Amino acid sequence: MKLDFPRYTERLGAVSIYGVQRIYELDSGKSKGFQSSHQTVRKFDYDEISNIMHDLAIVIPIKNEKLKLLEGVLSGIPNECLVIIVSNSSREPVDRFSIETEAVRQLGRFMDKRIIIVHQQDPGLADIFRNAGYDSIFDAEGNIRSGKAEGMIIGLLAAKMYHKDYVGFIDGDNYVPGAVNEYVKIFAAGFGMSTSPYCNVRISWVFKPKVRNNSLQFSKWGRVSEITNRNLNALLATITGFETEIIKTGNAGENALSMPLAECLQYSGGYSIETRELIDILEKFGGLVPTEYPQIVNRGVEVFQIETRNPHFHEDKGTAHLNEMLEASLATIFGSKICPPDLKESLQNQLKHLTKRRVDYDKKYHVLEPIKTIHMPEFEKGVRENASTFQRIGRLK
Ligand code: GDD
Ligand code: MG
Repeated sequence: MKLDFPRYTERLGAVSIYGVQRIYELDSGKSKGFQSSHQTVRKFDYDEISNIMHDLAIVIPIKNEKLKLLEGVLSGIPNECLVIIVSNSSREPVDRFSIETEAVRQLGRFMDKRIIIVHQQDPGLADIFRNAGYDSIFDAEGNIRSGKAEGMIIGLLAAKMYHKDYVGFIDGDNYVPGAVNEYVKIFAAGFGMSTSPYCNVRISWVFKPKVRNNSLQFSKWGRVSEITNRNLNALLATITGFETEIIKTGNAGENALSMPLAECLQYSGGYSIETRELIDILEKFGGLVPTEYPQIVNRGVEVFQIETRNPHFHEDKGTAHLNEMLEASLATIFGSKICPPDLKESLQNQLKHLTKRRVDYDKKYHVLEPIKTIHMPEFEKGVRENASTFQRIGRLK
């Protein structure tokens, strides 16, 4: 893969947010030794990308998606990666999770892939979280909450069980396996460019095509992303005093974290998680409030945004769903302790526009505590012995 070095950087305390980087070649060949005389382009050969992918787990959150789509996603993930499917699909009247497991087992044999699949509502898993004192994942009845973020947390922990250095998230409803393949290689390239162990790589889609009047329109931005990005950039501008458009990936569902960073972050539920990751990085390491992590501040945190060559096609889930996602993102910025009063007021107005009812956003988008508080040997033992839906497919211990 051949891509730009970052051209622009916004720096806030220990955090460097890089401007969107372009890819020149998806595949730049095998040989090492490419040196651009002016060093504006970075080339990764097969081996470099492959070595990083060995340390990378890909988490696929999935809830009642078409099996054909999941199959395509699996086929796009390079064989080096450990795949972790966290399903919240319905178990009755039809047990879709069992059907998923069977399909994945069959595919896994042909793909010779290492795959884990687990169900989010596994009561054994809930007990393990309870024993670990990780209560922020529970609803009022003591069950693991539904939500994409909650699934991602389970995936992160499974990756930690297998000592992975990096974790990437890819939705299970992607239509184009080639795009999935590119996302994973972008994650690897981002980590390969990073100079800090604390790194977030976010995918910026070149196009998100929509069908209008029976023809394909290559739109650049979804409505939700556009609004989220504008507000995140406004947050940066009020802090630094300089207007900026640097953030283009506030809602990047496809993103990856290095484990040392992932385990320190405080997440939030459902679809607010991608915005929350950025906000949390700024809160913890942006120098605006005292940090609990001086060692991370010393090394610095890097946020890469890399633009795909493949357009992004996924399931269209309707306007109500988009409003829900927008509310989640805006509420996350609104709830941040570094959000200045003017922006808070503007966000409140935008949120009022979306929902007429009064909503307690802190309750709705509850915080998920950093996973580093969980004692891993005990968690792992619990999962292996008591999580009955936790299944390993392929060459996996
Ligand atoms: N495990 C689990 N649990 N997975 C879930 C849950 C859940 O409760 N809810 C949804 N998912 C899965 C879906 O099946 C899909 O694979 C993935 O999470 C993303 O959910 P979608 O419902 O398809 O979201 P979207 O396509 O509208 O939004 C995506 O892109 C946005 C950016 O455009 C998500 O990734 C958003 O988080 C992201 O902001
Ligand atoms: Mg989707």
